Amino acid sequence: MVLLRKIHRIGRSDLLLKVEGKRVLITGASTGIGACTAELFASCGANVGLHYNKSEIEVKNVLQRIEDSGGKAIILKRDLLNTSSYSELVDSFIEAFGGIDVLINNAGGVYGFKHFLELDEDSWDNTFTLNVKAPFFISKEVFSFMKEHEGGKIINITSISAKYGGSVNSMHYGASKAAMDALTIGFAKAGAKYNILVNSVRAGFIDTPFHKKIGRESIEERVKLIPLNRAGKPIDVARMVLFLASDAGDYITGEIFTVAGGD
Ligand SMILES: NC(=O)c1ccc[n+]([C@@H]2O[C@H](COP(=O)([O-])OP(=O)(O)OC[C@H]3O[C@@H](n4cnc5c(N)ncnc54)[C@H](OP(=O)(O)O)[C@@H]3O)[C@@H](O)[C@H]2O)c1
Repeated sequence: MVLLRKIHRIGRSDLLLKVEGKRVLITGASTGIGACTAELFASCGANVGLHYNKSEIEVKNVLQRIEDSGGKAIILKRDLLNTSSYSELVDSFIEAFGGIDVLINNAGGVYGFKHFLELDEDSWDNTFTLNVKAPFFISKEVFSFMKEHEGGKIINITSISAKYGGSVNSMHYGASKAAMDALTIGFAKAGAKYNILVNSVRAGFIDTPFHKKIGRESIEERVKLIPLNRAGKPIDVARMVLFLASDAGDYITGEIFTVAGGD
């Protein structure tokens, strides 16, 4: 029997997570996990699209830090509750960089962080629009492009709440993140034959502006539930995203990776 396998000789470069020159669109890159991920990718030589909606000063600061360290990025403003913005966002990014290699669906949040018995329909709808509808339609646009080119990667930032159903105040958020994990699996199955690799990174409790925005009163009680006994940092999540986007992730698709301190 003839062995067709080529032997891969291991060298130091196999240790590196390479994303140099990759064109990476990150939604919600103004603060928290998205901002940190953007800076990490840019520091590794990726060309980054910094999408944001309201946090203009913060996103300009991210751009400044990237440019000061010799990186390349552009800013793209869109409200993802506005469904007409999805294709505009992808088109603007592709026009600026001539293509797209990696999409990171990171923008997300909770509308109506309150007991589910008091939850109103608008909060449910907005949470699902931001966390499910937007990543679905943005991924669909990107998928069409990648299918016609050399493939690419899509990484969805979901949440540990998809595993335990959220708290009484965030059941709808947990459900939306579970839906996003289902999209990961669906897009991964459809993308495999085009070399489009799709994975989720399920974040645990991460110290970002997210908690202040939703009006969470105390973080101490939540942190006590984490086996590693601390809140995560944005970089904890960003490193996993970098791993998947780099060539280290070239044989991984349709998976859900939890970064949650054992939660
Ligand atoms: N922090 C955690 O404990 C945690 C845990 C699990 C999962 N996650 C997920 O991680 C992702 C990042 O969250 P984070 O913790 O980094 O929170 P964050 O600092 O609040 O960042 C959220 C990002 O989403 C953007 N965004 C929110 N609403 C938007 C809208 N309507 N249109 C466009 N962009 C919008 C924000 O942009 P602007 O501020 O510019 O409007 C911001 O850049 C989210 O998907 C979140 O669900 C977070």
